[in-house]
Amino acid sequence: MNSPAYLELKRLVEEHLLDFLPEIDPMSRTLQESMSYSLSAGGKRIRPVLLLAACRLAGGDLAFALPFACAAEYIHTYSLIHDDLPSMDDDDLRRGKATNHIVYGEAMAILAGDGLLSAAYELMTKQMLMYLDDSLSLRRMAGACYELSKGSGVRGMIAGQVADIEAEGKDCSKEMLAFIHNNKTAALIKAVLLAGCTLGGGSASLREDLYFYGENVGLAFQIIDDILDITGDEAVLGKRIESDAQAGKATFPECFGLEDAKLKAAELLGEARERMLKYEDDAEIFTLLIDFLEGEIEQ
Ligand code: IPE
Ligand code: IPE
Ligand code: MG
Ligand code: MG
Ligand code: MG
Repeated sequence: MNSPAYLELKRLVEEHLLDFLPEIDPMSRTLQESMSYSLSAGGKRIRPVLLLAACRLAGGDLAFALPFACAAEYIHTYSLIHDDLPSMDDDDLRRGKATNHIVYGEAMAILAGDGLLSAAYELMTKQMLMYLDDSLSLRRMAGACYELSKGSGVRGMIAGQVADIEAEGKDCSKEMLAFIHNNKTAALIKAVLLAGCTLGGGSASLREDLYFYGENVGLAFQIIDDILDITGDEAVLGKRIESDAQAGKATFPECFGLEDAKLKAAELLGEARERMLKYEDDAEIFTLLIDFLEGEIEQ
């Protein structure tokens, strides 16, 4: 993740992340500040980088995909602001800083999340309106927008967040745990890969490979997040540890034990790595993410 290849795409996203926000009336300065606060607080930018990497692997142009990559980061950041609210996970630290509601109050944090979600769709549809005379580009953009809506919506991330909240403090079946993780986290990760592939005009076989990679890495990502809630370091993670146990969350270590959770994450990552081997050096970003996550398991 500190490799030049990853940093190049991350930098591209960060250079444009604030510029692509709609111009906000000075009367709404608090909204502007609150949205910018969470967007600028840092973050690994995994989802926008994966969207760009998938578009490039499909043969597409990074500049064409960049607004969609930023929109994906708006959606992800909104989900974190809402996830931290007192009525959800009630966390006070995110990306190494006080959470949005601690700084701006709960009402403003809800509205900043709403603002980021709306800004994502305003940005994507604005791009589409610029390509009305180019039906191929327009079709690709509409496809990407659909993938992101689906992955982050009521058949994806939101469904997972609902199940995560409903499972708190209860015995959770293995099927329900898989449903929670596949939806709250893997769905958006899969969506950014499919959106990038669609924008780049990727083949059906690339789409299948990215789908497989996204499913495996997405699930491993949340299992590792659960592991780090036990074994991680707050200063490195930029968020509180032991938050899941306190809230009685359904997690992989809770359900299977820490060692089996680690084995499961490693197995999923191994399969994803193997699937991308055929792309050799062109899959560098995808392999780097796996290297990073494998390192996280063993901390
Ligand atoms: C945190 O995602 C939320 C989960 C899905 C576990 P990230 O670990 O990608 O958070 P940032 O964007 O780097 O802060
Ligand atoms: C968050 O899962 C998933 C989403 C924000 C959609 P967690 O609640 O485990 O994420 P962290 O640990 O707060 O980052
Ligand atoms: Mg949560
Ligand atoms: Mg949380
Ligand atoms: Mg977590």
